[in-house]
Amino acid sequence: MSASPSVRMRIFLVGANGTLGRAVAAELGTRHHILTAGRNSGDLRLDLSDPATLRAALAKAGRLDAVVCTAGEVAFAPLSAIHPAGIGESAYTLGLTNKLLGQVNLALAAREHLADGGSITLTSGILADQPIAAGSSASMVNCALEGFVRAAAIELPRGLRINLVSPSILVESLPQFGAFFRGFEAVPAARAALAYSRSVEGLQTGQVYRVY
Ligand SMILES: NC(=O)c1ccc[n+]([C@@H]2O[C@H](COP(=O)([O-])OP(=O)(O)OC[C@H]3O[C@@H](n4cnc5c(N)ncnc54)[C@H](OP(=O)(O)O)[C@@H]3O)[C@@H](O)[C@H]2O)c1
Repeated sequence: MSASPSVRMRIFLVGANGTLGRAVAAELGTRHHILTAGRNSGDLRLDLSDPATLRAALAKAGRLDAVVCTAGEVAFAPLSAIHPAGIGESAYTLGLTNKLLGQVNLALAAREHLADGGSITLTSGILADQPIAAGSSASMVNCALEGFVRAAAIELPRGLRINLVSPSILVESLPQFGAFFRGFEAVPAARAALAYSRSVEGLQTGQVYRVY
């Protein structure tokens, strides 16, 4: 579906019950039908780290105009505590299998469920640009997601689009994570949600929307 101001889209939102996801649902939900998905909540249940659950939930969702992901976990650990290890045992395993490959697999699986011109919107974060202590996994995964989105955008068929939203620390998350982000300018989740609206309701592809 080509974006048009009057079209009511069917949007599949993974992580809809989270801090960021609730703001995205509030922004897009006034104009579109949101199918909520999460690991323990939502209309449809899935686990980003299990591709079979992604395929099953998308199949249940039916034809979609947009797939948005505001989920994805990484582990925070000081570099001094991280040692060489295989993919299964590494301190990086969670970020690689969950936030990175989970979102990549969601995008790959979404292709066959999206209408022509439909969109995929993934989530990275400011640590792609601005490192913090204990954040090497997040920085690596966020940069990898940016590379994937730029490359996938030029190969997607049928006018399908893919973009990435990279927010700063959210105001709502400061009580939990503020100590890691001293000196960063926090953004309200509602402001970050506008970037998801630009991705879903606009026409751009291969973009990284930085909300800093
Ligand atoms: N919060 C921030 O300040 C901030 C800033 C920049 C980037 N980000 C990124 O934005 C994303 C969301 O952050 P958030 O703070 O909104 O997280 P959050 O509040 O913890 O919410 C996470 C959401 O994702 C779902 N979820 C968690 N693990 C999942 C899995 N394995 N499979 C499917 N769904 C899963 C949860 O579902 P259930 O509720 O059903 O369990 C929940 O709805 C993360 O990737 C984070 O790195 C966050």
